[in-house]
Amino acid sequence: MTRRNVTIADASSDGGGKAWLVGCGPGDVELLTLKAVKLIKAAEVILYDDLGTEAAVQEFASATAVKEYVGKRGGQKSMVQAEIDALLVRYCLQGKQVVRLKGGCPSVFSRGSSEIAALTQAGITLELVPGVSSALAAPLLAGFPLTDAHVGRSFAVTSAHDPGSIEWTAFRGVDTLVLLMSGRSLPQIVDGLLTNGWAPDTPVAIVRFAGLPEQATWMAELDTIMEATKDAGSLSPCVTVIGQFLPKRQWHAMPSHGG
Ligand SMILES: C[S@@+](CC[C@H](N)C(=O)[O-])C[C@H]1O[C@@H](n2cnc3c(N)ncnc32)[C@H](O)[C@@H]1O
Repeated sequence: MTRRNVTIADASSDGGGKAWLVGCGPGDVELLTLKAVKLIKAAEVILYDDLGTEAAVQEFASATAVKEYVGKRGGQKSMVQAEIDALLVRYCLQGKQVVRLKGGCPSVFSRGSSEIAALTQAGITLELVPGVSSALAAPLLAGFPLTDAHVGRSFAVTSAHDPGSIEWTAFRGVDTLVLLMSGRSLPQIVDGLLTNGWAPDTPVAIVRFAGLPEQATWMAELDTIMEATKDAGSLSPCVTVIGQFLPKRQWHAMPSHGG
């Protein structure tokens, strides 16, 4: 059986350098793919950033690999995207085997497009390696699937990083909404949905630190979720799920625990 790599077909790097954009899942190293582990072990250079990637580096990177943290930590000034793009290109042009780790899946809100464009423009061979996105993993890790044959036949994933820019009405036909980067915008999310016609008793689940020892879940309804999370402290990082993701009889039987 031949294995087919996901390679940008027209890219090639003269100096032998190559980049992989690799998804690391939500942070539990047991949710890494075999391919991710293999690449991390073999990497000469690893660029990593958030909670989904740090544990993977600690567990699997070789002692000799160059490991550069390029993310945002504790309010410190972070590297801007153009600098990360340039760093990736520079290491590859030096002939290095460079693994760029992304939390979750590089497909989902990872700024992967910018890095792919920079590497492709520089003629560098690139491979894209999917990971388990928190959007899909967090609900299941909290104990419920995202879809239900009777009440939840569709879902949409969106970013709540800038809640003021969300067109809530665009999601009217969708059974279940999954919001990433939603930890700091819960009041705006609740307000946006209630004022755009969502029922006050629509179920809401918030899953913080999914898959990690400190995982916590809050389950309430649109008009009670603010009260339910008032003692939670920071809700980040969390996945917020809103809609008919479970038949209510099961949903009301789910354990709800915060903090
Ligand atoms: C910049 S986005 C990256 C998403 C990532 N590419 C993915 O597929 O999961 C970061 C957001 O992902 C979500 N996230 C990532 N890991 C998480 C985890 N372990 N638990 C809960 N949410 C997580 C949070 O919404 C966080 O604000």
